[in-house]
Amino acid sequence: MLMRNYHIAVVGATGAAGTELLRVLERRNFPVASLRAIASGRSAGKAVPFRSESVPVEKLDDRCFDKIDIAFFSAGGDVSRNYVPIACQSDAIAIDKSSAFRMEPHVPLVIPEINADDVRRHRGIIANPNCTTTVMLMALYPLHRIFHVRRVFAASYQAVSGSGTRGVEELTRQTRDAVCGSKSRGKPGSSTSPEAKPDKTIPASVSAQANVYPHPIAFNVLPHIDSFLDSGYTKEEVKMQDEARKIMHSQSLRVSATCVRVPIYRAHSVAVSAEFQRPLSVEEAREILSKAPGLELVDEPHSNRYPMPLTVAGKDNCQVGRVRLDCAFENGLSFWVSGDQLLKGAALNAVQIAELL
Ligand code: A2P
Repeated sequence: MLMRNYHIAVVGATGAAGTELLRVLERRNFPVASLRAIASGRSAGKAVPFRSESVPVEKLDDRCFDKIDIAFFSAGGDVSRNYVPIACQSDAIAIDKSSAFRMEPHVPLVIPEINADDVRRHRGIIANPNCTTTVMLMALYPLHRIFHVRRVFAASYQAVSGSGTRGVEELTRQTRDAVCGSKSRGKPGSSTSPEAKPDKTIPASVSAQANVYPHPIAFNVLPHIDSFLDSGYTKEEVKMQDEARKIMHSQSLRVSATCVRVPIYRAHSVAVSAEFQRPLSVEEAREILSKAPGLELVDEPHSNRYPMPLTVAGKDNCQVGRVRLDCAFENGLSFWVSGDQLLKGAALNAVQIAELL
């Protein structure tokens, strides 16, 4: 097949996922003829590194997509809703990381290891799935292919970089203030009455400033990602079911998830308990998981070896471990899967989609 070079635009090039996307394009030698790095007016005058060059950042506007072949979007839902159609009008193919178009029937939602063929029916937009859903499905799908998953209970442990650069900065600031002290010290949380002696197990200044999240994220966990729905689930939790159904072509699948933000920088983990139609053994599951593309089996609990955010961060592959028969489900398996949500959950998956094209 004749390989040509492509004119590429990256919208959100200064953000957490956009920065990673530039690195992945470079690392995987994607055939880039030209690159436009696009962000908001706030980034005017900045430049981003690509290969050995420094690429000036352009402010997003309607003309950014002239002569562009592939436009990667990672600047949030509002930007995607407004500018993905404009990119398509300019004959670019949009690979969109936001949730804006994911559930549109004509928009393929693709994890290349799972449903690469869906890319063929795109009409200009291909959606990159939710990062937590992707990490879960990298381990669930290989099992589903053989044993057919029916129901899933999942709890996620999601890193602050999933909220972009601002999430990372907020965790850093709150941690530093709590450990080193800050001007805000002396304004302890509401749980401390004036008479009470300070409790050394509660860092005093963590309660001070929370901008990105509704509560401090340092030294805390928040069972709250995205907004709450009438059902009591959050939008993030509903995505875990809706997107899993679409990607795995399994409309009857039921997923009950609790999504939790934890004070780590990078890589999401998901504790999964899944019920299958067919009986399965741990040995069979381990065999399948060890051969699944994009996945590594790290499952030697007696040697303290299991997937962790610190060991999976920066890696392309997700890791699965703690594989065991589930004691509450009939044909059930429980496992723990971790993955770098900026790579497999965003940039790497997007570039893999472009490679399919
Ligand atoms: P900027 O750096 O100029 O604000 P993150 O996910 O790390 O928060 O990054 C979000 C990315 O999306 C950044 O590159 C940011 O650019 C970009 N972005 C946010 N809002 C807009 C907008 N209205 N127009 C263009 N780019 C935007």
